[in-house]
Amino acid sequence: MARLKVGVLISGRGSNLQALLDACARPDFPAEIALVISNIDGAYGLERAAKAGIATAVISHGAFASRDSFDQAIDARLRQAGIELVCLAGFMRVLSAGFVEGWRGRIINIHPSLLPSFKGTHTHAQALASGVKLHGCTVHHVTAALDDGPIIVQAAVPVLPGDDEESLAARVLAAEHRIYPLALKMLAEGGGQKAPQEGALLINPPE
Ligand code: GRF
Repeated sequence: MARLKVGVLISGRGSNLQALLDACARPDFPAEIALVISNIDGAYGLERAAKAGIATAVISHGAFASRDSFDQAIDARLRQAGIELVCLAGFMRVLSAGFVEGWRGRIINIHPSLLPSFKGTHTHAQALASGVKLHGCTVHHVTAALDDGPIIVQAAVPVLPGDDEESLAARVLAAEHRIYPLALKMLAEGGGQKAPQEGALLINPPE
C-alpha cells in the first residue's frame, strides 16, 4: 500500500502531532509523516517527532525579512521531502495566500471550535463568554481566509456547568486527538486531494 506522505507544521507542544504520529505508526494507516517543521526552535513537538524517528526542521520566521520569504522556505522544504499533504497542528503563523494557493486542496488545519463559530485565538474563552452549551473542534481545508475553508470533520463536546477555560480546553483537546487522525485517514483514502463527499461528525467522543 502506498502511503500518503504528510508534512506537519507545528509551533509548540505538539499533542495533535502526537495523535497523528500514533495513528501513522499503525501498519494499516494510509498515511505516513515524512517531515515535521517548526517555526519555533525547541518546540516540544520536535522531540515527539524525533522520538518517533521522523525528520525535523526548524525554520524560524524571525530569520526572514518577509512573510513571503519565510513561506517560500517552508514550501521548498516540503517539496524537497516529497510531501503530498500538509497538516497544520498548532502552527501559529498565518500563511500567505500564495503559499496556500500552491497547496490548494492539500493543506488542512485543526481548530479548537465548531467553525464557523469562534475563529482566531482564545476560542474556549469565546465559547464560555457566548454561553453556548455545545463547543468542539474542526478539521478543515485551509484557504487564504483565517479559519475558513471546507469542513472535513467536527467533534462536539458539552460545555458543563462550572467549566473554565482549562477544563473546556482539555475536553476539546481530547476530541481533537480523535478527529485529526480520522480526517487524515479520510483524505488519505481519497488520495489526499479533495474533500470527501461526506465529512464526519462525532458527538461527545469518549476520551
Ligand atoms: C490545538 O488546540 C489546536 O486546535 C490549535 O492549537 C492547539 C495546538 O495544540 N490549532 P498542540 O500543539 O497540538 O498540543
